[in-house]
Amino acid sequence: MKTIFSGIQPSGTLTLGNYLGAIKQFVQLQHEHHCYFCIVDQHAITVPQEPKTLKNNIKSLAALYIASGIDPEKTTLFVQSEVPAHTELGWMLQSMTYMGELERMTQFKDKSEGRSAVSSALFTYPTLMAADILLYQANIVPVGDDQTQHLELTRDIADRFNNRFGDTFVLPEIRIPDVGARIMSLQEPTKKMSKSDENTRSFISMLDTPKQMEKKIKSAVTDSDGVVKFDKDNKPGVSNLLSIFASCTGESIEAVEEHFKDKRYGDLKKEVAQAVVDTLAPIKERHDELINSKELDEILTNGAEKAHKVASKTLNKAKKKMGLIR
Ligand code: AMP
Ligand code: TRP
Repeated sequence: MKTIFSGIQPSGTLTLGNYLGAIKQFVQLQHEHHCYFCIVDQHAITVPQEPKTLKNNIKSLAALYIASGIDPEKTTLFVQSEVPAHTELGWMLQSMTYMGELERMTQFKDKSEGRSAVSSALFTYPTLMAADILLYQANIVPVGDDQTQHLELTRDIADRFNNRFGDTFVLPEIRIPDVGARIMSLQEPTKKMSKSDENTRSFISMLDTPKQMEKKIKSAVTDSDGVVKFDKDNKPGVSNLLSIFASCTGESIEAVEEHFKDKRYGDLKKEVAQAVVDTLAPIKERHDELINSKELDEILTNGAEKAHKVASKTLNKAKKKMGLIR
């Protein structure tokens, strides 16, 4: 039994990419491991958020976790800002992280490019993420492949702390799913599917209606050679649809390629849309029941309490080692 930690930002409605790349693995992992799943609202405010929308997104994300199958009896589900140890340790770790390391982060480069007002929190974001993970002494962090660089930095920071102050933190390992690690935009299939994309046709939201899902998949960009084949470099659009189908149905890419071998793009899209609707529609239904329920509030209150106990133990240990103590 290992300890698992992961987080998702409440910065918009989750996409099919978040579900296949993250939540779906979380649900499987909770049966074998000790899991902490966090709604990382303090990461979300590194770019401007409208307060009312943020508040709603936090609740909606919590409801989506539960509706997707996260079991609060097995898993600690909580909101980051309700456990202050995260920002406290985050600050301590900032003191041990170099500017050069943060400047190399591609997520920072992508998110800051072309913006006139970039917050300093966006820059130091990876140190807060390191604190999230290290507070729970997590062995494994399941995330999409875009988080690899942040995980490597987390390990470097933990290792540096341990070397300097003595053994304190477990060095976490990243876990990326085989299929679904990177679901691409339906409109620009060389770009990651993202909930913050301005073109809403480029992503499927977990709360879209079946009609919207079908429409978006129907208008997904493919290519003109008409052959259904998995070839990421030359056929990114078709390959993305095959990945989505494989991930939703739990089949391998090879099996899915074989299944669609002699079919047309129209058939492929129809079946992919059906697989997506079958996967997401029941989750939306449960989400809608939970969103304003007392049950959800209780789950989050309990979760924060449980998380606080574990996190403050690690925080105190780290403070002591650093000399932040009377
Ligand atoms: P974010 O939406 O950036 O907060 O990401 C939350 C989690 O979902 C992280 O583990 C991401 O790596 C994962 N994720 C986000 N977008 C995708 C995508 N298009 N494909 C696969 N995983 C994704
Ligand atoms: N940076 C992650 C993302 O953008 C979200 C995140 C914050 C996270 N803290 C974390 C993921 C800790 C895993 C573990 O997707």
